[in-house]
Parts: sequence; structure tokens; C-alpha cells
Amino acid sequence: MASKARVGKRKLKQAFANHIGAIAQSEDGKAAVSKADDKTSAAAAVLLDANNFPKKRFFRSRAHCNPLSHNDGFEYPLEAGEANWKVHYPQVPEKDRVVRILDIGMGFGGLTVELARLFPDKLVLGMEIRAKLCEYVRLRIEALRLEHKDKEDGSPKYQNAACLRSNCMRYLPNFFEQGQIEKMFFCFPDPHFKAKNHRRRIVSHNLLSEYAYFIKPNGRLYTITDVKELHEWHVEKCSNHPYFERIPDEEVLRDDPAVQAMIDMTEEGIKVERNKGNKHFAVYRRREMHELPTMEEYAKSLFS
Ligand SMILES: C[S@@+](CC[C@H](N)C(=O)[O-])C[C@H]1O[C@@H](n2cnc3c(N)ncnc32)[C@H](O)[C@@H]1O
Repeated sequence: MASKARVGKRKLKQAFANHIGAIAQSEDGKAAVSKADDKTSAAAAVLLDANNFPKKRFFRSRAHCNPLSHNDGFEYPLEAGEANWKVHYPQVPEKDRVVRILDIGMGFGGLTVELARLFPDKLVLGMEIRAKLCEYVRLRIEALRLEHKDKEDGSPKYQNAACLRSNCMRYLPNFFEQGQIEKMFFCFPDPHFKAKNHRRRIVSHNLLSEYAYFIKPNGRLYTITDVKELHEWHVEKCSNHPYFERIPDEEVLRDDPAVQAMIDMTEEGIKVERNKGNKHFAVYRRREMHELPTMEEYAKSLFS
């Protein structure tokens, strides 16, 4: 690895640009640090610490982005079956390469990697709209894999963790099949406070219909936020959606380790804890087909 003598701001910017550029150019999107030419590797190395973990301060980015923008330039397969999961989970046999757990808007990925540790037999995918954060999490997972590579003590190898840059309000159907997801997390989503921006919220009636399509019957949808008004919005939208039923908090806290992970392990959650704020969560079960109301019953309920 390159020497980590003091680096000026300009050099650092250049390092980041080279690093991101090399990833964009590399065919399989894998680490620029190990694959790019020496100059790029040396520059990118300043972004990592002595153990190859990315340094958070270089990956912070603007607080909000517009998920409704049409100017996003994301790459996505035309159909779910065409997604190249080998790039993300290279050590997992092809027959097992099915994502089961989604961390939507993963941020710095604390929950994504914790879920991978908790559920070593499931493929966990963090999804994030912002490029810098996604690159941070990709490097974080690479570093974790490296750190645990040769350990024989049964510790997690993180081969089941990955991240993907995408706009989850638009492109989920390009990546996932009906009923494949078992757990779907929405942790501390952007609150979009102004009423005119509520349509940017990632939990809405229409999007819930899409999420219900990907979540398997009896699978779970999780929300958590420190904004009470947003929590009430989540509860209202999910509880009024025919495909979802709330599970009592005591029950999920007792039977589902993912809930405590969601409360404790996200970077936003840790920040809220530090500031002595409140965390409001809700967990929903995706109903089975036979439990759904008929069209007639549903239409009636809308007008009653
Ligand atoms: C406040 S952060 C929470 C991050 C993380 N879940 C946590 O709790 O630490 C919300 C994240 O959602 C991402 N995000 C917002 N809209 C998104 C979208 N449409 N698709 C994917 N990610 C999105 C943002 O970029 C941001 O990183």
C-alpha cells in the first residue's frame, strides 16, 4: 500500500476522482485499489486506513438527493433475471445467488454488514442512491472479507454481503423477482418534511404495493425513524395497505434479532442514541394471498 504521508485537499480530491473513475472503467466494477494502475492505487490508498477500511470522512456527501429526478444515469439490467450477481457475491455458488434481505438506503452500511453476520445463510444487499456512500460500503465489505478470509474459527466471512447503487423508488423491478425477499428494511429514511415533497418519501401506498410484490408471503417489512411524524406516516401507510399487517412490537423484539440490530446498528441510529433522541419502529408481515380482501371488500373499505 502507498505511503500515507500528509495529503493536501487537492491531491485528495484527485485521489477520489481517480478511484471512482477506475471503478467505473473496470469491467466487473471491482476494487480500483487492487486492480488499477500503480498511480491510481497509490492515490486511492489514502482513502483507506491501515487495515484497508475506508475512512468515513472522505465519503460524506450532500444530505438529500432527489429520488424523483430523471437525470440519474443509473445502470440497470432490463429484467431481473439479467442482473449480474456474480460480481457482488463471487464466492457464493450460482444456485444460491438469490438476494433475500434488502437494506434500502443503507447509508454507511452498518446494518447491512450486521445482517450479513446475523444471517450467514442469506444474501444481504444494501442499496443506496448516493455514489460516495455506496463506494464506502463496497470498500467496507471488501475489507471485512479480507480481514476474515483465513480465519478458521467460524467467524463470518461476509461473502453474503454486498451493496448496489440504485434508486430504489424506480429500479427494484429490474433487479428482483416476485416473492424473493424475506426481509426489507427502511431505516431512518429521508423525512422530506415539506408537504410538497411528501411524494419523495420512500414509503407510500403505491410503493408499498411494489414492495409487497417482492416480499414473500409472511416475509417482513421494517421501518424505523427518529422523526415522530414520519413514523406516524409509516404506520398510517402500512396499516392501511391490504398486503401488510403490523406485528406487535413485543413479539418482534422477542422473536426477531433483526429488530434489535435495526435499533442499534445503523449509523443514523447510533447518532440518535448519542443525541438522546427517540427511535420509533414498526414491523409488518406481508399477508398471504388467502388473507387478502376481495376487490369488492377493498373498494368498500376505501369509501367507508
Ligand atoms: C438518513 S440516511 C439513513 C442511512 C441508513 N439507513 C442509516 O440508518 O444509517 C437515508 C439514506 O437513504 C438514501 N436514499 C434516499 N432515497 C433513496 C432511494 N430512492 N434509493 C436508494 N437510496 C436512497 C440516502 O442517500 C441516504 O443515504
